[in-house]
Amino acid sequence: MLMKLQLSLLIVLLACGFLYQFTLKSSCLFPFLLPYKSQQGLEALLGHGRSIVFLETSERTEPSPLVSCAVESAAKVYPEQPVLLLLKGLTNSTQLLSNSTSPALSLLSAIDNVFLFPLDMKSLFEDTPLFSWYTRINSSAERNWLYVSSDASRLAIIWKYGGVYMDSDVISIRPIPEENFLAAQESQFSSNGVFGFLPHHPFLWQCMENFVENYNSDIWGHQGPYLMTRILRVWCKLRDFQEVSDLRCMNLSFLHPQRFYPISYPAWKRYYEVWDTEPSFNDSYALHLWNHMNREGRAVIRGSNTLVENLYRKYCPRTYRDLLQGPEESVTWEWDPGNK
Ligand SMILES: *[C@@H]1O[C@H](CO)[C@@H](O)[C@H](O)[C@H]1NC(C)=O
Ligand SMILES: *[C@@H]1O[C@H](CO)[C@@H](O)[C@H](O)[C@H]1NC(C)=O
Ligand SMILES: *[C@@H]1O[C@H](CO)[C@@H](O)[C@H](O)[C@H]1NC(C)=O
Ligand SMILES: *[C@@H]1O[C@H](CO)[C@@H](O)[C@H](O)[C@H]1NC(C)=O
Ligand SMILES: *[C@@H]1O[C@H](CO)[C@@H](O)[C@H](O)[C@H]1NC(C)=O
Repeated sequence: MLMKLQLSLLIVLLACGFLYQFTLKSSCLFPFLLPYKSQQGLEALLGHGRSIVFLETSERTEPSPLVSCAVESAAKVYPEQPVLLLLKGLTNSTQLLSNSTSPALSLLSAIDNVFLFPLDMKSLFEDTPLFSWYTRINSSAERNWLYVSSDASRLAIIWKYGGVYMDSDVISIRPIPEENFLAAQESQFSSNGVFGFLPHHPFLWQCMENFVENYNSDIWGHQGPYLMTRILRVWCKLRDFQEVSDLRCMNLSFLHPQRFYPISYPAWKRYYEVWDTEPSFNDSYALHLWNHMNREGRAVIRGSNTLVENLYRKYCPRTYRDLLQGPEESVTWEWDPGNK
């Protein structure tokens, strides 16, 4: 009798594990995985070590269409992996439940493998070199706090749990076949807009230590791409890239600029232009859109036939359908025959 009970319990557990692997939002983990989940749920998901992580360190709780596209495209490219969007502005999950008026958050939370969580920096930095720095700092006196806190958060989360961090202006187009990697923005220079590591990788620990030791938030990027590049130089003898192959040293890959930056930042406007022949991006895993260059706030317009419109249509179709503005006159109910 007891034996039988144990056996059926085992079967239920196995079935749950199976469902969990493939659906992620399985009701087996219902208490943890309600649409807007608890901190416990966050740990459980991250514990799998294969998450794709996006962060919003401002108080915004209404993601732009570009953020939505970045997250949706990652969910499409990595259907078996949890894709997390952590927002600082969500102080707790009840808040989000009570007024989920954001179309982007509604759209994203309806995707099976996308999970939204509050970003709690204090608990994130616990047990890392960043904790003492964080508790000492007066964030309202920091000019570049949004960037600096984002630089710190991404190091801590990928060090603790492993996975891939991506900026929220990166559109995924195919899976990254690497476990420990940094992305070159140009020869001998690493970005920190995309990187991935197994949990507890010493490279990231060293980055966090150096972050605190050499902290200088007045120099833009000092805690970000320049930090990654400094530590990479300690680990590896950097050479120039040959053709489009990546560099390897120790167990790190330093990925060619073509993988994420096929259009370099001085040329960022090319994304918003109409091309005669669009690039195939065959050598890329994802496309960094350089949103911080877009100070004039160029939007993606439906029907414009720009490169970026066509990327949205292909890689984030729900965002394309629900969140893009069209030219005024095209806002019609074309699919409704009664509306002619
Ligand atoms: C969560 O937010 C709600 C509404 O703002 C608030 O009433 C509640 O006390 C908060 N809970 C926690 C644990 O902060
Ligand atoms: C919910 O609404 C309140 C009041 O309108 C606002 O202060 C708060 O930021 C909103 N929360 C979210 C998550 O949008
Ligand atoms: C933090 O910085 C702000 C802005 O400079 C200042 O007004 C405030 O007094 C500081 N707080 C503390 C605790 O030092
Ligand atoms: C390779 O990566 C692991 C972390 O996954 C690390 O512990 C180990 O020291 C690394 N090996 C070398 C030779 O760097
Ligand atoms: C890109 O890849 C596709 C499919 O693998 C192939 O058909 C096409 O010829 C490639 N284009 C270039 C420019 O390499």
